[in-house]
Amino acid sequence: MFRTHTCGELRTAAINKEVTLAGWVQTVRKFGSITFIDLRDRYGITQLLFSEALNAKLDANPIGREYVLQVKGKVNERSNKNKNIPTGDIEILVEDFTTLNKSITPPFTIQDDTDGGEDLRMKYRFLDLRRNAVKKNLELRYAVNRATRDYLHQNGFMDIETPFLIKSTPEGARDFVVPSRMNPGEFYALPQSPQTFKQLLMVSGYDRYYQIVKCFRDEDLRADRQPEFTQIDCEMAFVEQEDILTMFESLIKYIFKAVKNIDYTESVQRMSWEEAMWQYGNDKPDIRFGMQLLNLKFPQHFFTQKESNAHLIDGAGFGVFDDAETVVALAVPGCSDYTRKQTDELTEWVKRPQIGMKGLVFIKYNTDGTFKSSVDKFYTEEKLKAIAAAAGANPGDLILILAGPEERTRKAASELRLEMGKRLGLRKEDEFKLLWVLDFPLFEYAEEENRWVARHHPFTAPKPGDIQTMIGNDPKIENAADYLKHPYASIKANAYDMVLNGNEIGGGSIRIYQKALQQKMFEALGMDEEEQLHKFGFLLGAFEYGAPPHGGIAFGFDRLCSILGGSESIRDFIAFPKNNSGRDVMLDAPASIDAKQLKELQIRLDPQG
Ligand code: AMO
Repeated sequence: MFRTHTCGELRTAAINKEVTLAGWVQTVRKFGSITFIDLRDRYGITQLLFSEALNAKLDANPIGREYVLQVKGKVNERSNKNKNIPTGDIEILVEDFTTLNKSITPPFTIQDDTDGGEDLRMKYRFLDLRRNAVKKNLELRYAVNRATRDYLHQNGFMDIETPFLIKSTPEGARDFVVPSRMNPGEFYALPQSPQTFKQLLMVSGYDRYYQIVKCFRDEDLRADRQPEFTQIDCEMAFVEQEDILTMFESLIKYIFKAVKNIDYTESVQRMSWEEAMWQYGNDKPDIRFGMQLLNLKFPQHFFTQKESNAHLIDGAGFGVFDDAETVVALAVPGCSDYTRKQTDELTEWVKRPQIGMKGLVFIKYNTDGTFKSSVDKFYTEEKLKAIAAAAGANPGDLILILAGPEERTRKAASELRLEMGKRLGLRKEDEFKLLWVLDFPLFEYAEEENRWVARHHPFTAPKPGDIQTMIGNDPKIENAADYLKHPYASIKANAYDMVLNGNEIGGGSIRIYQKALQQKMFEALGMDEEEQLHKFGFLLGAFEYGAPPHGGIAFGFDRLCSILGGSESIRDFIAFPKNNSGRDVMLDAPASIDAKQLKELQIRLDPQG
């Protein structure tokens, strides 16, 4: 037997047992005539004791960090126990050893707190993966994978693979393309998601499908985005939105229990897209804390159902508010004692290009009930009090107010809220808050092209009550400035996003399954009949053969893992991730290919671009 036990297995019950272990050398320590080695494998670390009798062999076969050893010996109770590791009560009295392989000195230490920077660790990712911290992340990922499969299997879902070499599936990013040697001049696209395939599977009658599947998107990368990432992709036939919400919030709760031992018993909160934008300035609000926005002023056509609070600020002659399209406030708890330096710093924070505001107005609602503000010149104490009351502020709070164009100001208010939440420790890592965001607009307006684009994707159905508005109106936008007044702007999608702690972890929709409505959708997106047939003829054709009502969802698997693991970066939960420029620095990919390959593909590169 190569090994009788792993390096994480032996305890005092095995004392005096003859064992054989194999693993990597973590450390070598010499004490006089004896040598201690910590031997590591995937399961843990066991201390080895080499007595004087082995010194001649050790001298002839010196051992260094990351050498691969096989040792035979007897389990011994340690005199100096290490309470920090599960094997800390024992050690192996080595009788003989074999060096299975040597290692050159690793470029960084293989420890939890390594001395290696991100670039170096990515270049030698195979060494980085030996570190406990990274291993824990991959173990968590596997636990999420297993729990997902368990739950979906128990609920009658079938894992069906779909192809990677396909024709474009629009999910809002650019496609990665693959040239075809056998079909010169033609290209496959890698799937941005298996969207159309899972819908075809519904037409085929596989009414509960899932796949834990790679998706490929050529888009700008961030901490929570990779060019290839994994989805838990699901689809169901004969369902309504409510069926999907119930099925998949139970999946996430099942994962919480299986992976984190969290009993998430409360029902998942729900909020319309409009309410999320209104209260939090964001379609994926972090609801672990309050600090909701007070909308003092806003363009009515953005929130047609909402009443204005402009009377609170109007008529004071304060130009910044008077001239602004939107004015929003938020009450930050317990910060009325902020110094000038602190408020100046916050002002600089909102002026940064990423936030893009011109300034910040603040009102201190002092603990003694008095007010002090940066707009004292314009607003009486009584007025400030009324604003504070509307913002839900209490004595001791600091009210922050932003003014500017609607979209920028709302986004800035959302960012400021998250930043203050973070600074005040309100975004607790070990607290998990799920939220469904519902009733998204079906369309978004693309200014540059003066046309509609699908907010989710072109296969998402409108709310049943909005189908007539879609069919009965010409999608053409006559006056770009008034796009919000077009009937299409008010159409709501039968779509839903799941949000966890302010991150969009999943999104899906009830689909269009009637050919005529799908054609109308394509037309609304500016596709003529020829283009529709060229791009989606297969789907329109399938809809003629008895497509059932269906809907589904996909979760960002990497994102879910990273949030459960308490990290901001999904890279930490991917065995071989790409860097922010989409490069695999270990493989040095992407790379050029040789002339012969290009010729076979009939591709000529144009260095001028
Ligand atoms: P969507 O585009 O919303 O929906 O993607 C689903 C989820 O996948 C995650 N995600 C990503 N994770 C890492 N890197 C990326 N580049 C990336 N892009 C998306 C997000 C997101 O919520 N076909 C539809 C689903 C459906 O309608 O059923 C789709 O792909 O967590």
